[in-house]
Amino acid sequence: MSDVAFHLNGTLVRVADQPPTRTLLDWLREDRGLCGTKEGCNEGDCGACTVMVTDAAGSRALNACILFLPQLDGKAVRTVEGITGPGGEMHPVQAAMVAQHGSQCGFCTPGFVVSMAVAHLNGARDHDDQLAGNLCRCTGYAPIIRAAEAAESEPAPYWMTSDSAFILAQVSRGMPAVSPSVRETAGMGGSAPGAFSPRDSDELAEWYLANPDATLIAGATDVGLWVTKQLRDLAPVAFLNGVEDLQGIEVQGGQLHVGACVTIAALRAAVAERLPSFGELLRRYASEQVRNAATIGGNIANGSPIGDGPPALIALGATLHLRRGDEMRSLPLEDFFLDYRKQDRRPGEFVAGVSFPEQAPGLRCYKISKRFDQDISAVCGCFNVTVDGGRVTSARIAFGGMAGVPKRAARAEAALVGQPWTIATAEAAAQAMAGDFTPLSDMRASAAYRLTTAQNLMLRYFHDLAGVPVSVLEVRA
Ligand SMILES: Cc1cc2nc3c(=O)[nH]c(=O)nc-3n(C[C@H](O)[C@H](O)[C@H](O)COP(=O)(O)OP(=O)(O)OC[C@H]3O[C@@H](n4cnc5c(N)ncnc54)[C@H](O)[C@@H]3O)c2cc1C
Ligand code: FES
Ligand code: FES
Repeated sequence: MSDVAFHLNGTLVRVADQPPTRTLLDWLREDRGLCGTKEGCNEGDCGACTVMVTDAAGSRALNACILFLPQLDGKAVRTVEGITGPGGEMHPVQAAMVAQHGSQCGFCTPGFVVSMAVAHLNGARDHDDQLAGNLCRCTGYAPIIRAAEAAESEPAPYWMTSDSAFILAQVSRGMPAVSPSVRETAGMGGSAPGAFSPRDSDELAEWYLANPDATLIAGATDVGLWVTKQLRDLAPVAFLNGVEDLQGIEVQGGQLHVGACVTIAALRAAVAERLPSFGELLRRYASEQVRNAATIGGNIANGSPIGDGPPALIALGATLHLRRGDEMRSLPLEDFFLDYRKQDRRPGEFVAGVSFPEQAPGLRCYKISKRFDQDISAVCGCFNVTVDGGRVTSARIAFGGMAGVPKRAARAEAALVGQPWTIATAEAAAQAMAGDFTPLSDMRASAAYRLTTAQNLMLRYFHDLAGVPVSVLEVRA
């Protein structure tokens, strides 16, 4: 890897001669001696390694353990050491953590403090969601949440806003988000294995066609674990975070067109009011740090049978857009998933985006997982039924966790369409589901649990549309 340049705690640093998949966490701790950023799980689950990253889109919390150095080029990074002021002044969230007894062993504390400082800077008040990706094993969360609340009224210290000023000045001077040197090393012709950071999808298309065996890295929330847990060598790689034309969300003709590199956090914001149940599903997608990195393109392309994006998008009738060289093609999203981890994607072809209706009053998404927050679904069921004059006129039902791919419940849908919308019809559809799926047993759930749960979700959906409270957050004894 050639030079990567970014601001670290207010100072410009250049990093050279590092493998492209060196993580920020390893570099901070091993090369810079900044050991305040902790390594807990090294897989994005615990938040001990949380850092603040600022670019033109704003400041956000990210997990340094699954963040590769080239992803930081042109950005500003603040570690827990930079949350404290230059003269050693405590940040208001640090002072509040002391006052509220928010720390015991202290291992998790730097990660919490960084997450809290980012939320504080952004004026976020949904502390439970902001901190769901930070695990504490000894203090308990109540004092920590109290500390976050206590700091709310304090202004953001001046050093916390200097990163945005630096980025804005850089953008207004027309400086590229990515150093020219990084772009050169990769070699557009693909002769030199290394890292390539395309700036638009034309560059990506040309390079990927010439390097079809390369690994595309978007948010690295899957790929990061291939490096930290499987110790895989991924070169050559292309980093997609600088591909600006794949980061847009547009509304056109009643459809939302979402670029592949749109993060789950940005997608959640876009659908929160239009498709509230999808927005709520995305609220429970991993954690703030992971949502800030993970992209919808990566979530689709990895083909996981337990990803949360695909079932909701399939229930919405989404269309997937793929590009290979200059050739674009579109297909119904469900047709993309051929078999376990096998997708309809040719060598050199990448996910460009996905389109889906911006309104769907009948859409409901249910995520069933062992933990409410920060957990992968055991079953994710998404329902989108239209009823007209008391009869079902259309039905799209899709599940994650029920087969080797995200899959529609074709028999259940057939049992609904044309029938009166009654509990008896919903029960018949639930029965029909037994013919749709032969789920597996694994560490998340048994086959029997999965099928029974899916069938019960059909009934839950009926009651949900009837206005009966069905969420664990709504049900009161
Ligand atoms: C702690 C943790 C919790 C998680 N929780 C959830 C959860 O609750 N729900 C859920 O669904 N997932 C979850 N995930 C999985 C992960 O966040 C998602 O699959 C994510 O959307 C992947 O997106 P990414 O941008 O990080 O992809 P990356 O890791 O960058 O890439 C994933 C795969 O997609 C390929 N790829 C990426 N972009 C493209 C593209 N445009 N075209 C073609 N190929 C591409 C990559 O080459 C790779 O094969 C979790 C992950 C972690 C680490
Ligand atoms: S070390 Fe656990 S999230 Fe990074
Ligand atoms: S204070 Fe010990 S893990 Fe949180």
